[in-house]
Amino acid sequence: MLKVEGLTTRYGSITGLRDASIVVQAGEIVGVIGPNGAGKTTLLNTIIGLLKPASGTISFDDADVTALTPEAMLRRGVALVPEQRRLFTELTVEENLLVAGITCKASDRHERMREIKELFPVLGERTTMLAGYLSGGEAQQLAIGRGLMSSPRLLLMDEPTLGLAPNLISTVFDLIARLREDGTTLLVVEQNARRLLEIADRVYLLRTGNVVSEATADAFRGRENLFDVYMGTSE
Ligand SMILES: Nc1ncnc2c1ncn2[C@@H]1O[C@H](COP(=O)(O)OP(=O)(O)OP(=O)(O)O)[C@@H](O)[C@H]1O
Ligand SMILES: [Mg+2]
Repeated sequence: MLKVEGLTTRYGSITGLRDASIVVQAGEIVGVIGPNGAGKTTLLNTIIGLLKPASGTISFDDADVTALTPEAMLRRGVALVPEQRRLFTELTVEENLLVAGITCKASDRHERMREIKELFPVLGERTTMLAGYLSGGEAQQLAIGRGLMSSPRLLLMDEPTLGLAPNLISTVFDLIARLREDGTTLLVVEQNARRLLEIADRVYLLRTGNVVSEATADAFRGRENLFDVYMGTSE
């Protein structure tokens, strides 16, 4: 479904991602893990079109989408739940959702919003509140809700559980598993690597801008030490 080949993205003289190649098959949950600064966010932001790569190609459904804007990607069915939420703080909860559903038919938009409020009841209680006044956990739920508004076929999630209370972390992992059952393909960056490994089919390890390893989640689960070495949590 998604094929990234030799992707390099720079911020001026700093290379955020170097020659990265990954594939995501339809129906998979693919994880991306790695220490801080490894290039995880750069990878997702380049795929969605927020950053322009210096070299490399991105294809989706066998079409070259390397130069597309985030809006064009959304229209093709690829959405991003961005790092740091990126909400419109001066708009209400409902307005944030509606804007995220810009590519849906107007008639579908309200139905979709109802489903999202069912999923995250607190959003239903805060419909008219400005997003800037939400707590961290509420804001994260809204960010995920925004990602779901367009009913994407491929959802990119950048640290979706950051700042959430433990019970909500479980809700989000359950949601990811359920989305896959409903036919959504997922590419997920997650600090909580052990939880991610429980639901992912495959994972890529990134380190200083490079994909250093790719394996089935099972393989990592069986090699805890290797995993710790890559993550920098063990010598
Ligand atoms: N806007 C920017 N300007 C300059 N350098 C940047 C910028 N954003 C990221 N970088 C650099 O690019 C590299 C990759 O950063 P990136 O944010 O992609 O890492 P990450 O794996 O998402 O890290 P984290 O786990 O902290 O979110 C780092 O060296 C970072 O300092
Ligand atoms: Mg990041």
